[in-house]
Amino acid sequence: MKKEQNIIHGFSKKSREEKLNIVAEYFSQPSDALALYKSFHHYDSSTQKLLDEFSENTITNFPLPYCICPNVMVNGKTYLVPMVIEESSVVAAASNSAKFWSKRGGFKAEIVGTEKVGQVHFLWHDDKQILTERFSELKERLIRECFDITENMIKRGGGILNIELRDLSNQEPDLMQLYATFDTVDSMGANFINSCLEQFAATFKQWHSTQKEFSEDGLEIIMCILSNLTPNCRVRCSISCTYEQLDDIVPGMTGQEFARRFRLGVRVAELDPHRATTHNKGIFNGVDAVVLATGNDFRAVEACGHAYASHTGHYSPLTKVELTENTFRFVLEMPFSLGVVGGLTNLHPLVKLSMELLGHPSATELMGIAAAAGLANNFSAVKSLVTVGIQKGHMKMHLLNILKQLNVPESRKAEVVEYFKDKIVSVSAVRQLTEKWIPKQV
Ligand code: MEV
Repeated sequence: MKKEQNIIHGFSKKSREEKLNIVAEYFSQPSDALALYKSFHHYDSSTQKLLDEFSENTITNFPLPYCICPNVMVNGKTYLVPMVIEESSVVAAASNSAKFWSKRGGFKAEIVGTEKVGQVHFLWHDDKQILTERFSELKERLIRECFDITENMIKRGGGILNIELRDLSNQEPDLMQLYATFDTVDSMGANFINSCLEQFAATFKQWHSTQKEFSEDGLEIIMCILSNLTPNCRVRCSISCTYEQLDDIVPGMTGQEFARRFRLGVRVAELDPHRATTHNKGIFNGVDAVVLATGNDFRAVEACGHAYASHTGHYSPLTKVELTENTFRFVLEMPFSLGVVGGLTNLHPLVKLSMELLGHPSATELMGIAAAAGLANNFSAVKSLVTVGIQKGHMKMHLLNILKQLNVPESRKAEVVEYFKDKIVSVSAVRQLTEKWIPKQV
């Protein structure tokens, strides 16, 4: 690092060019770093301006692969599912699984609920009994005075569903909350919910100041914020078939034996949070890739999914296996908060294409598609784990990255892939085989 990292004042006010020049000075080769950063700028300046404005202090773009998982059949409709992901084996795993299940009825998705949550946290120093008695009067006013914000959402079929008073004062003196539920239809609804909550707080303060039994500082609002835990905005997605339809899923293995081992693979995750975390990570490989490609908030989806995975007090897998005498069923149930309007969905040019490719789904349809991608990835991962092992498939994909990393000429790649078909892939084994073809660095 060339320059000492001092505090920089007014960085956000500088132009992109000025920011780039400042950052470049932190590299041993400033002009090379500058050129590389700039090489990732979009050729069209208006698109670049749009991308710049999605965030702050933007100096360049950071491309990730935009991939397609074909043959994803959800509720009888087949989609080409866009996935944005940097991990090489994820799309291959999802695609294998999607094709396999498209011949066995596809994925079935059901929406369990669409309820979102927001909370106003406050301290109540006045008489709790009076607040409880007058809460229905307050609630009616909270909803009425929010109408300017909710009017459009109500026209679209959503709005405020309910507001409850919750008492947490047995855990922290005087702590209470307004626990509100919303239907935000096709939008994720974060701005809508937060605006409603701030209006609730204003109305609540105003109402409190007009009740003669209450003291001047009897109500202290702490904060108003949506909750990313939306357990009642949930999708259930499943695949099922007879054991016979699983025969030879790996050569020589009966469907029943495969199902027995698969159940054990999931059972381990039910018992051991170390395994459950990796198991769920495999689900999020598929889910996050769709969430990103459709311009949704993957941090919210992850936070919600992992919190839900712990809702029994024991971190558990989000999928479960159900075996009957003749059938195998694999089910993913998880909460989601996705939007198909608002946010990036109407702005990012590639997100717009993703939405068109998916046939402009509703938010609930998109929940089903993202869940199907998660279930597809999880099925592939557990299938490999309990049969041939994960490295076989993974390393095949990884081999292509190793070839790139070692600068093996394009013309030799097919030969190397063929050679490693039945051998263990490692960087040193690939290097040994390809050394003679790799151009020497001068
Ligand atoms: C790798 O990205 C994901 C897996 O580890 C998931 C799993 O173990 O189930 C393969």
